[in-house]
Amino acid sequence: MNNIAVFASGSGSNFQAILDAIKSQKLEANIKLLVCDKPSAYVLERARNENIPQFVFHAKEYASKQEYERAILSQLREYEIEWIILAGYMRLIGPTLLKEFEGKIVNIHPSLLPVFPGKDAIGQALEAGVEKSGVTIHFVDEGMDTGPVIAQREVQIDPNETKASLQIKIHQIEHELYPATLQNLLQRRS
Ligand code: GAR
Repeated sequence: MNNIAVFASGSGSNFQAILDAIKSQKLEANIKLLVCDKPSAYVLERARNENIPQFVFHAKEYASKQEYERAILSQLREYEIEWIILAGYMRLIGPTLLKEFEGKIVNIHPSLLPVFPGKDAIGQALEAGVEKSGVTIHFVDEGMDTGPVIAQREVQIDPNETKASLQIKIHQIEHELYPATLQNLLQRRS
């Protein structure tokens, strides 16, 4: 079945890349649900265009992370979700979801982890003056970008690199690497 839920908070270009890979049969999976914590995120429009159901929540309307993750969990059960795919979801996953989806939550991060975890990894790499950065796909654990690495790919940082130009390069890698890595993982583990 490979029913997946994509979690996103932003523009959703990775959501789109996963969807396009499914459409062109490069990835055998079904996006059954989009989970989003930002009501104004562009990813919601992408999901609407493709008739993918969405669960949008405002964290502030819940007493705790446990409360909103319970609400998410009931949606995931309803849609018979097997894998959680984080694609620019800017919240730490808590014990409620980690317990139920042990080994079945995957994240993509725009650096060569373990360096530059957390927010603005691209800005962090430029600030540090390193000559290369990259993309990491990893299993999610309770830490911030700390789980076991599944795949990594490097990108060269040029002397005149800007945040915008590096972001474009990183996105290009992500849009290819994420669907391909998910295809390997889901076929192996489903
Ligand atoms: C991606 O570059 C992803 O690696 C990053 O957010 C971006 C989302 O872009 N994720 C993180 O920084 C997670 N710590 P998108 O909304 O266009 O897919």
